[in-house]
Amino acid sequence: MNKEVSGTYNAIDLFAGCGGLSKGFMDAGFNVIVGIDNDKDALNTFELNHKGATALQADLSKQETFDEIKKIAGDRNIDVIIAGPPCQGFSLTGPRNFDDERNKLYLAVLEMVRQYNPKGFIIENVPGMATLYKGEIKNEILKRFRAMGYNVECQILKACDYGVPQMRKRLIFMGIRKDCGMPSFPKPLFGPETERPYRTCRDAISDLPTRVDSLGEEIDKYSGEPITEYQKLMRKDCDILHNHVATAHKDFVIETIAQVPEGGNYKDLPAGVGESRKFHMAWTRLDGNAPARTVDTGHRNLFHYELNRVPTVRESARIQSFPDDFVFTGSRTKQNRQVGNAVPPILGQVLGKKMLEIFTGEK
Ligand SMILES: C[S@@+](CC[C@H](N)C(=O)[O-])C[C@H]1O[C@@H](n2cnc3c(N)ncnc32)[C@H](O)[C@@H]1O
Repeated sequence: MNKEVSGTYNAIDLFAGCGGLSKGFMDAGFNVIVGIDNDKDALNTFELNHKGATALQADLSKQETFDEIKKIAGDRNIDVIIAGPPCQGFSLTGPRNFDDERNKLYLAVLEMVRQYNPKGFIIENVPGMATLYKGEIKNEILKRFRAMGYNVECQILKACDYGVPQMRKRLIFMGIRKDCGMPSFPKPLFGPETERPYRTCRDAISDLPTRVDSLGEEIDKYSGEPITEYQKLMRKDCDILHNHVATAHKDFVIETIAQVPEGGNYKDLPAGVGESRKFHMAWTRLDGNAPARTVDTGHRNLFHYELNRVPTVRESARIQSFPDDFVFTGSRTKQNRQVGNAVPPILGQVLGKKMLEIFTGEK
């Protein structure tokens, strides 16, 4: 991509959270003008890590929010809308009630596309959305955006296919205005269809201080050099370690998880141990030699592959492909929520690059 093109495409991020998707689009060369979310803590993190972008705390179900966005965008052309509406925002009342009040958050994306008529848009959601009501909700979304003059497709993408050390799957809608081209999804760069193996949990975090003896500090030092290519990529020039504070678990948690082998779960526990948690993800220990299970918002069911504790925020952030200079703010609970809610920046980046490729015709 030539320099003139880079940075000249403006984007707005709806339901921006801490800004994983925005970070990816910025890394791809987009100029993110504003990120909107109603969560103050997530927006503090967004503001700290997205220089040049405005963080707008507002409710996207309210009409006046669109006026506030307009004030910030001014007369700038908006080329792309990116959005990660929360899945709870989708009512389960069925496709016939698409205009139901409870779907307002999805309708906010439609409204923004109607107002700005961007060259393209991306909507991210959980894979379950694809099969909700036998796919009728998904089809309704496709139909509505198509009726607005967009070529729209959706696909479930696996983050590990693009170099994120995590098996996270997400449903991605890509819309391209009819005069700007056709949507197409990035091809896997890692995994069995390629020459590069998936990045693993160990590839991602084995250089970080183990935090067995000490709980760590919010601002700390690395204990050694990066080992893998991915660790180097995540550290870049960062020489301060942030958000690497270990959780102090109760003795019974430590004693229980100590009995689960790498890659195992509650099924590996002896009878009578850990029975208070028995659902399918209970007492899961990561497999260090595979991409991680999906990082959640801090439910404390997914444990480190070697240590008897859950990953620190920094470890989860690495697994989500946030570089080490991306700092999370707020309480640890809030930090975990921000990380778990996010689109992995590397996934956002490949999507952003793909859109630029479609708009410019340049690879
Ligand atoms: C899945 S997260 C988005 C993550 C984000 N795309 C990222 O990559 O970091 C959904 C976000 O929607 C926000 N949200 C929920 N209801 C909202 C509303 N009514 N108005 C604005 N934001 C809302 C939540 O605070 C949350 O941060």
